[in-house]
Amino acid sequence: MQIKEKGEWKPKIVAFCCNWCSYAGADLAGSSRLSYPADVKIIRVPCSCRVNPMFILRAFERGADGVILCGCHPGDCHYSTGNFYARRRMTLLFSMLNYLGIENGRTRVEWVSAAEGAKFSQTMNEFVEKIYSLGENVRLGDLRCKN
Ligand code: FES
Repeated sequence: MQIKEKGEWKPKIVAFCCNWCSYAGADLAGSSRLSYPADVKIIRVPCSCRVNPMFILRAFERGADGVILCGCHPGDCHYSTGNFYARRRMTLLFSMLNYLGIENGRTRVEWVSAAEGAKFSQTMNEFVEKIYSLGENVRLGDLRCKN
């Protein structure tokens, strides 16, 4: 990834990670010394299905340029079917966001297991690269949250 000059725009990226797989995958990426950009702010949730669509809307409202949801692979959710619910909800939410003008590339769902530190790092690098290419998000932002 290209190194950005000081003072240039830096994206704000929120990553919701489920505690049992994706957060452990992020941990593994860290302990394996695999890097991913510091623009990614991780929020640990018990399961991907804990992420209410309002959390994502709120993130965009508060100035996020991209939001990614990471959870266990289908069939591996520690609450058995949580990620199936999350997948359905996010499909609906992302199509609604697209309708509102938030490009599809600004949102993503990815399944990352606890053993996939490399996948976590690669996914975050790709996602950040995508957000850099899309630029600053100007939709849904609450102007009171600027600066
Ligand atoms: Fe990871 Fe449900 S516990 S997605």
